[in-house]
Formats: sequence, structure tokens, C-alpha cells
Amino acid sequence: MRVVGTFAGARSLRAGITGLVPTMGYLHEGHLSLVGIARERSDTVMASLFVNPLQFDDPSDLDRYPRDFDRDAALLELAGCDVLFAPPAAEVYPAPPLARVVVSGLTDTMEGPRRPGHFDGVVTVVAKLLGGLQPDLAVFGRKDAQQLVVVARLAADLSMPVEVIGGPTIREADGLALSSRNVFLSGEERRAALGISRGLMAAADAAEAGERSGAALEGLVIEEMSRQALDIEYAELADAADTARLLVLDRPAFLAVAAGSGRTRLIDNVWLKPDGTADRGARLGRPSVLYGGGD
Ligand code: PAF
Repeated sequence: MRVVGTFAGARSLRAGITGLVPTMGYLHEGHLSLVGIARERSDTVMASLFVNPLQFDDPSDLDRYPRDFDRDAALLELAGCDVLFAPPAAEVYPAPPLARVVVSGLTDTMEGPRRPGHFDGVVTVVAKLLGGLQPDLAVFGRKDAQQLVVVARLAADLSMPVEVIGGPTIREADGLALSSRNVFLSGEERRAALGISRGLMAAADAAEAGERSGAALEGLVIEEMSRQALDIEYAELADAADTARLLVLDRPAFLAVAAGSGRTRLIDNVWLKPDGTADRGARLGRPSVLYGGGD
């Protein structure tokens, strides 16, 4: 695997179909499965590792964001990545950007109003990565459901010659969705956080059993989360095309949740089809490499 710090250097290493997996590092099996998806579909697999200051609405969250470059590089190489683009901030933002990208509408719900400026920062850096690296396809996690919908719309609306692909949420054996932020959870906070995935699984069971009411599906998640010491922000059934709240599950959708456990803010979701079929993600059979056990 080659490690490069400039857009031009990374671009020059593309050969054949190039697949990109954008990341902010502190990798886990969720990221590695995205690399696997890119590997199956590309001749050159590129990952980017850049903790993008523009998308952090809270500066203390940026300072606190976990980082471990050597571990990330080793995991990417094992996963079959060919090129790691790990730029210094000055390569991505040589000057404060005057040109920024905004995706309106889709960012007015859920994460958008709760994290002012977050999506503008995400979309701006993704536009720079797609423009600067010029991949043929880019793989993003379905765990960040709203981000995936927003990024797909960015690429479509700006006629970017890239295919945006969503990869499944990877969960620990007990259901907790993998997130780089999970390392901050104490034992007690982690136990409480399980209420999130339990609630989503209960809602997915109900959808599969025929429940179509948005309020009923959201209520099942809230009910399960309320049993735990969680700071519940939202549980929303959202239209997968435009992220608007859905009263009835009558089109492709995702049921998304945000809640705090201790000081750690977590998001999770299940994707639902109008026939009630649920994409709950995939579960690991052993503890995640996040906790130091990478092989
Ligand atoms: O999902 C993430 O890790 C980030 O939002 C992304 C897409 C790498 C942009 O910084």
C-alpha cells in the first residue's frame, strides 16, 4: 500500500477502475467492509484518512476525536487497500475555503438542525475528495444514513462522474453499531447504548410483521431507549429519497436514531422497504478491532 499526502500524488496512482473509501480514521470493521466492497468492484482501492475540521460543529469534539494513524494504515493494508491518501490539513484547505458546497432540503431534518454547519462541512470535503482524487466509485456507510443520501444527491446534482455506493452497518455481536466513538463508552454507558439497537431491532421486527405506521415504529424505538439512561434526541422514520419524515412506511425509508450515552453521542438506523423488509446490518462474531485486537 502506498501512503500519499497530496491530491496529485494519489491521483497519479489510479489504474483502471478506482474505488474510494473516505474515512476520518480510527477504523473498525465497518470501514474495512467498505474497503471490501470497493475491492470487489475496483482495480485500485483508495482510502482517504482526514479528520475534517469543517464538519465539527463543536471544537472540543474535534479535539477529542480518536486518532491512530499507524493502526489505521496497518488495518487498511490488511483489508486490501492499495493507496492511502492521508493529507495534511494544508493540502485540503491551503486557505480558508471561500467556495463551499451546500445540499439544501435533505439537511433540514434530523442531524442537520442539531449539528449546525455539519453537513456543509461534510459535503464540502467530500466534493474536494471526489474532485481531487477522481474515483470511479465511492463507498459510504449506511450507518450514516442521512449523510449517504446527501452525498448521493451531491454527486447527482453536480453531475460528478462517480457512483456512490452504500455499505451495510456492522454491529458487535450484541447489536451495538460500530462507531469510532464507541471507545469513549464506559461499561455502564455501553450497556445503556444497547437500548438503541434493541429499539431498532424491535421496530424492524414490527415492520416485518406488518406495522406501517411511522409513529408506531418510532414509538417502539423510543420505548426501548427510554428504559436506559440515554439522552434521546430523535427517532424518525425518514424517506430514503429526501430524508423527510414519513407518517407511513409506503416507500424506501430508514428509521434513524440519535441519542447520547454519557458524553458520547451515537447514531444508528435500520433501512426499511415498503414491504416491511429490514436491512439491520451485519453482526460480528467477535469483539471489534476497535478495542485493540486487530489481526
Ligand atoms: O463519514 C465520515 O467519516 C466523514 O463524514 C467523511 C465522509 C469521511 C467526510 O469527512
